[in-house]
Amino acid sequence: MDKRQSWYTWLSTLTLTVIVFKLFQSICFRRNKNFFKEKVVVITGASSGIGESLAHTFYRLGCKVILCARRRQELERVQNDLLQMHSTVPVHPPVIMQVDLCNIDTFDQIVWTILDITGHIDILVNNGGISCRGSINDTSNKVFMNLMMVNYFGTVAFTKAILPHMISRKQGHIVFMSSLQGLMAIPHRAAYGASKHAIQAFSDSLRAEVAEDNINVTVVSPGYVRTSLSMNALTESGVKLGKMDSALSQGYDPNYIAEKTALAILRNRNEIVLAPLLHRIAAVIRSNVPSLYFLIMEYRAKNSKDE
Ligand SMILES: NC(=O)c1ccc[n+]([C@@H]2O[C@H](COP(=O)([O-])OP(=O)(O)OC[C@H]3O[C@@H](n4cnc5c(N)ncnc54)[C@H](OP(=O)(O)O)[C@@H]3O)[C@@H](O)[C@H]2O)c1
Ligand SMILES: *[C@@H]1O[C@H](CO)[C@@H](O)[C@H](O)[C@H]1NC(C)=O
Ligand SMILES: *[C@@H]1O[C@H](CO)[C@@H](O)[C@H](O)[C@H]1NC(C)=O
Repeated sequence: MDKRQSWYTWLSTLTLTVIVFKLFQSICFRRNKNFFKEKVVVITGASSGIGESLAHTFYRLGCKVILCARRRQELERVQNDLLQMHSTVPVHPPVIMQVDLCNIDTFDQIVWTILDITGHIDILVNNGGISCRGSINDTSNKVFMNLMMVNYFGTVAFTKAILPHMISRKQGHIVFMSSLQGLMAIPHRAAYGASKHAIQAFSDSLRAEVAEDNINVTVVSPGYVRTSLSMNALTESGVKLGKMDSALSQGYDPNYIAEKTALAILRNRNEIVLAPLLHRIAAVIRSNVPSLYFLIMEYRAKNSKDE
């Protein structure tokens, strides 16, 4: 065989392997797809971005979706889209529920209302959250507290409002939409990274505690995703940034994150990281060669003050 021929053989073998693998993946997904039929799925932050994509994914799979967020109008838009875009799929009408993750006192009432409508809850996807931009010195304490409130305390309390129900049923699956920044912190997003690290720790404790109740916990840690996250991010003074940043606009399609999340539930994965290779390597460096990571981040902080 000459060089060219062996190269060709190698390439076609690789292509074939990838095709077979993809086929296998899709067959697996199809075979178990019925798992989602009739499941009641509560999604927070369902009014835009990843949450909106999650709503479409689960609805298409035959779930009864409960869409939670603050903006009723946006929830109604998502609800209408679902009814129109998948009108051929015989599924349950999506339910919308106004939820502000800062109002912990309202959660019991909200969960009772959901249970009145659906009878039970199979899957909870804690997805609602906000981000921030700015140096620690210049960021007001109220921004730190606000992010922790929404991304951590609110998420914890909402989970705890549903948990007794799942424990008594001895069944359930709880998903946390964390972030790669829950595994490694970067400069100028301290409040965000801290809140996501907190969620990672919480979910590890939760997973261990509720295993005996047959409740499963999945943590999803995406890299950049093309959503309004930076538009809605809080600046140092606590106002909305209102800007789409380039990293996000070049990020993953939110539908990809939603599909991978559904797959992770299906396969009962404890955690998945959805990020490009370079970003995954960074996370590995953080835990295995920390001093190198600190150097890289120092460089990043100096050279990207406005990011
Ligand atoms: N985009 C990324 O690059 C990326 C990467 C990793 C992880 N994530 C995570 O993915 C999740 C979804 O974010 P996204 O990217 O889809 O951004 P997004 O488009 O801004 O969506 C955020 C969602 O959270 C909801 N939300 C915000 N504050 C809330 C509050 N106080 N109470 C209830 N709901 C609230 C928003 O709804 P309302 O405004 O209507 O309340 C909205 O539906 C977040 O947890 C984020 O940290 C995103
Ligand atoms: C640090 O923050 C304080 C309080 O906001 C501000 O007065 C000061 O100018 C900041 N220092 C720098 C170097 O940005
Ligand atoms: C959840 O985990 C339990 C074991 O902890 C397992 O038996 C069960 O099949 C899992 N559920 C799903 C949906 O994967």
